[in-house]
Amino acid sequence: MFNVTNDIKYVGVDDLDIDLFEGQYKVPHGVSYNSYVCIDKKIAVFDTVDKRKTAEWLKNLENALNGAQPDYLIVSHVEPDHSASIPAFLKKYPSATVVGNEKTFILIDRFYGGIVENRLTVKEGDELDLGRHKITFVFAPMVHWPEVMMSYDKTDGILFSADGFGKFGALSHDEPWLDEARRYFINIVGKYGVSVQGVLKKASALKINAICPLHGPVLKENLAYYLGKYDLWSSYTPEEDGVLIAYASIYGNTATAAKKLAEELQARGVKAEVADLNRCDVPQAVATAFKYSKLVLASITYDGGVMPCAEAFINKLKAKNYCKRTVGFIQNGSWAPISAKLMRAAFEGFKNVSFCETAVTVNSAVNNEALTQIEELAAELAK
Ligand SMILES: Cc1cc2nc3c(=O)[nH]c(=O)nc-3n(C[C@H](O)[C@H](O)[C@H](O)COP(=O)(O)O)c2cc1C
Ligand SMILES: [Fe+2]
Ligand SMILES: [Fe+2]
Repeated sequence: MFNVTNDIKYVGVDDLDIDLFEGQYKVPHGVSYNSYVCIDKKIAVFDTVDKRKTAEWLKNLENALNGAQPDYLIVSHVEPDHSASIPAFLKKYPSATVVGNEKTFILIDRFYGGIVENRLTVKEGDELDLGRHKITFVFAPMVHWPEVMMSYDKTDGILFSADGFGKFGALSHDEPWLDEARRYFINIVGKYGVSVQGVLKKASALKINAICPLHGPVLKENLAYYLGKYDLWSSYTPEEDGVLIAYASIYGNTATAAKKLAEELQARGVKAEVADLNRCDVPQAVATAFKYSKLVLASITYDGGVMPCAEAFINKLKAKNYCKRTVGFIQNGSWAPISAKLMRAAFEGFKNVSFCETAVTVNSAVNNEALTQIEELAAELAK
């Protein structure tokens, strides 16, 4: 527990032993479920935590309250990593009023039955008066659930940003923000860039001194940096000129071609990273693909198709709205190579993706002909 400001305390919890976040994302350094309490004439709690940590959270809250009773529980959204402790909270503090919007209560009722007796339904821009602190509500529909709303403390300029500006990694694990915030954003919120742009526009009218997200650290300094990253990510603008080379190989020859291309690019001063799609953390590779301006997919031809991990990767990129970038291909095939054609066809439905003119074909192993094509592709990507 720590103080965000004199009146606002962090009462969230770290989850260091969860195997997968949202059932699919590896979190080697855990994740935090953040929750905050504002102590004023009226006391408001901002969100609960995952059911894995209910008891620890209630204890943190009790310590912060120091014998007082909370008046309000403000629910930013009903995804269970933040709402699953609402029933336990209401059991302990039955007089508290739950604050949400119309959609919030529909979802709370679906998940937990009609447990909420005292409801305060708010609309965009409504104000909740806690005493010194005046809280307004900034709706953020589809960032990334329909009922999402951020809360803004007008008095001290604190934005409670729901999952926005969140990051993987427990608070007890100190690490740089960018990579794990990007992996979080691209995979969890990335599909909803247009909605995020809408919220950023609203946020630009607010004086923000600190951002309190639901996962990861409270952001207090250099806020323009974080807002800038969110603007890039949500507008699908590449963060850096560079190339991710993602490959699918069995016996290593396609991997050799991918690594050779990376060397050729680096020799031309182009930033290049390589990912083995069968072994890497695929959500990480997806995030890296979004980071860079260019992507090369290398896959063997596999049973007349593309290797399954490459196909899955392309589907994931599509699901996250990959666009505004350049894509090239390396194919391998020992008797009838066709993976480049198939991969390109899979990209046809993508918006604003342009393709490299050079396609590399490896016939089993990288020979001089393939090397020449790799050099040509490198030269084209470096242009
Ligand atoms: C299970 C399996 C299925 C394959 N299917 C095809 C195919 O349908 N057409 C083809 O031209 N090559 C096929 N290949 C050959 C590969 O495309 C590739 O040339 C070979 O695996 C060498 O590349 P690598 O060292 O990167 O794995 C297949 C290979 C394997 C192991
Ligand atoms: Fe969420
Ligand atoms: Fe969340």
